[in-house]
Amino acid sequence: MTEEYRRAAGAARFIKQCIEDTGSLCVVTGSGLEGILDNFKVIDRIAYSRIPHLKETTFHRGEFIVLEYRGKRFCALQGRLHYYEAYTSKEVAFPIRILSLLGIREIIMTNAAGGLNEDYDAGDIAMVSDHINLLPDNPLRGPNDNRFGVRFPDMSEVYPLRIRNKISELASDLNIKLRHGVYVSFQGPSLETPAEYKFLHTIGADMVGMSTVPEVIVAKHCGMRIAVFSVISNVCYPPERIKPTTVDDVIATAGKAVVPLRTLIEEVIQRNLMGSDS
Ligand code: HPA
Repeated sequence: MTEEYRRAAGAARFIKQCIEDTGSLCVVTGSGLEGILDNFKVIDRIAYSRIPHLKETTFHRGEFIVLEYRGKRFCALQGRLHYYEAYTSKEVAFPIRILSLLGIREIIMTNAAGGLNEDYDAGDIAMVSDHINLLPDNPLRGPNDNRFGVRFPDMSEVYPLRIRNKISELASDLNIKLRHGVYVSFQGPSLETPAEYKFLHTIGADMVGMSTVPEVIVAKHCGMRIAVFSVISNVCYPPERIKPTTVDDVIATAGKAVVPLRTLIEEVIQRNLMGSDS
């Protein structure tokens, strides 16, 4: 048994002792996007600091939350760990290992990201169709535990087209403008220079952020169905559109998309669009 499996099992056991039913779906909130959980009934909250082996968040609040919406039980990770907090990608993605041992099969992640596509505006919501990992690390580096997944997991369709099509259709029914694009992870914590944004645009990315990819790789390794939404918090391309950006700007702009993103996620959950048989 790998050390990672042993620790994840210990953490999952602790959570199960606090609350038995955590559902089969998890929502992960990104910077400025905690409000997407506001309409859900909170059943239980567990601070990350109480969960064995889980690292503490230094930027986001860290809580594992069990929720209900119209009779459906699910859970949320409020706040994530980042590579720039000096955690390895394996540590950043460790909460996803715990989720997999809790029986989570579907995961919806959210983040704030810089827009590299000239058609994007600040406040747009983009569904991730693919990613590029430019973090100098891979969360699967090191010993592989086959109980989680295979040594060399396939990444040809990380964000299932079937789910993306259903969500696109739903967004258009709800009159919510939804972009689609490739997310690139860059290590931060400094934002990128205009030359770096241009480079990231040139290699095929539509948005850039400092998170998500390690968790996505591990979720895919564990066989989860994945959907990711980025909120464009600052426009980064072409260079003439770049403005000086602070973290408060990122959080405030991301916050403006909370209502439509919340509506979309509520409906995805209600209609079970992430389910295997939907
Ligand atoms: N770069 C990296 N991460 C980000 C950005 C950005 O411009 N905006 C929000 N997260």
